[in-house]
Amino acid sequence: PFAIFELPDGAEQVLDVPDDWSLMEAARRDGLDGIVADCGGGAICGTCHVQVDASWHARLEPPGMAEEALLEVVPERCATSRLSCQVIMTPALDGIRVRVPSSQL
Ligand code: FES
Repeated sequence: PFAIFELPDGAEQVLDVPDDWSLMEAARRDGLDGIVADCGGGAICGTCHVQVDASWHARLEPPGMAEEALLEVVPERCATSRLSCQVIMTPALDGIRVRVPSSQL
């Protein structure tokens, strides 16, 4: 499966994301700018924030309490914001599209 990351300058990067990997893990593997992931996936740093394309957002599992609390305080939160460390690839999410907020750079 793959995910499309749209960067703040409009460029797109297509990342291979194995099933059961988080989007954050694939972004770190490939050194994607803007996904720092300071906490390593613990849903406590907020530096893996992405804005999910609306049509894909509806297919995600709802955020847990820790993610929901952190999303309250990340810059540039929008209605489809998620922590990319909490978005786990499944066959149903093949091709998911997300945007990296400019505040992440
Ligand atoms: Fe820290 Fe996702 S990596 S919240």
